Parts: sequence; structure tokens; C-alpha cells
Amino acid sequence: MLNEKVIELLNQQVNKELYSAYLYLDISNHYDDLNLDGFANWYMIQAQEERDHAMLMYEYLHNNDAKVTLEAIDKPDKELEGKMQPLEVTLEHEIYVTSLINDIYAAAYEARDFRTMQFLDWFVKEQGEEEKTARDMIAKMELFGDDAKSLYMLNQELNGRTYSAPSLTL
Ligand code: FEO
Repeated sequence: MLNEKVIELLNQQVNKELYSAYLYLDISNHYDDLNLDGFANWYMIQAQEERDHAMLMYEYLHNNDAKVTLEAIDKPDKELEGKMQPLEVTLEHEIYVTSLINDIYAAAYEARDFRTMQFLDWFVKEQGEEEKTARDMIAKMELFGDDAKSLYMLNQELNGRTYSAPSLTL
């Protein structure tokens, strides 16, 4: 059996990951309204990845005979403005998610729950990548966002992103 506190935090994280999916769907929606279909595509795929994160935790809980409790998902409440600000919202949100993963890891460490620590290793690495990607997107927008031709090319580049299932399997 997993530790009760660890179960509670993993359950909360299922909800937080689904909220992340909802937030990124809203950002995709926002870029669609700006006619930036590549940015919209990129965030649509990001939303799918967040749902995958939720499902990995959901499966992990089930595989360990722990109860999954699904709660209401908060409305995406970030005011989105223009081309750059949603990218900053993303970085801020990913830094927050990293802190949540770290909290679960700390609880697992405290409980000597080595299995959950090993499971979370993938998420620790993933958060490092997600923060880097968010910073890179901001840097590209700073460089190219004000020039119409460059923005067009950046949008094309982001349109090329395709979905692939997470590398972690349970
Ligand atoms: Fe599930 Fe973007 O972290």
C-alpha cells in the first residue's frame, strides 16, 4: 500500500494535470482567435500531453490499489492577452507544477516510498524539459515576434509539432 499522504497528493495532481490540459486548451483557443494556427496547434498538443500526465498518475494509483478520486476541474482563469503573455503564463504555470511534483516527491521520500520516487523521476525530468521549452518559446518570441515575416515562419515551425505518446509506460 502507498502512503496515505502520497495517495492524496497524487490524486490532487491528477486534477492539476487536467487543469493544465484545460489551461493549454484555452491558450490554443486564444491563439486560434489571433489566427496563429501554429501556436494553436502547439498548445493543442501540449493539452494532450497534460492529459497523458494525468492518466499516468491515474494508472499508477490504480496499479497500486489506491483509490482515485476525481474532483471538479477549475475554470482556466488566466486573462490571456496578445502573443507574448500566454507564453509567460505557461512558464509561470510550469514552474508551479514543478513545485507540486517536488512536494509529492518530498512526501514519498519522507514515507520511504521508493516506488513512487522512481515513478516520479520521469516527471521531475519532464518538468525540467517543459520549463526549458517555455523559456525557449519566450526567447523566440522576443527575437521574432515583432517582425511579421519571422512570426509567420515561427508559426509555421510550431504547426509542425505532432503528438507522440509519453515515453513513460506503466
Ligand atoms: Fe504536466 Fe506541463 O506538466
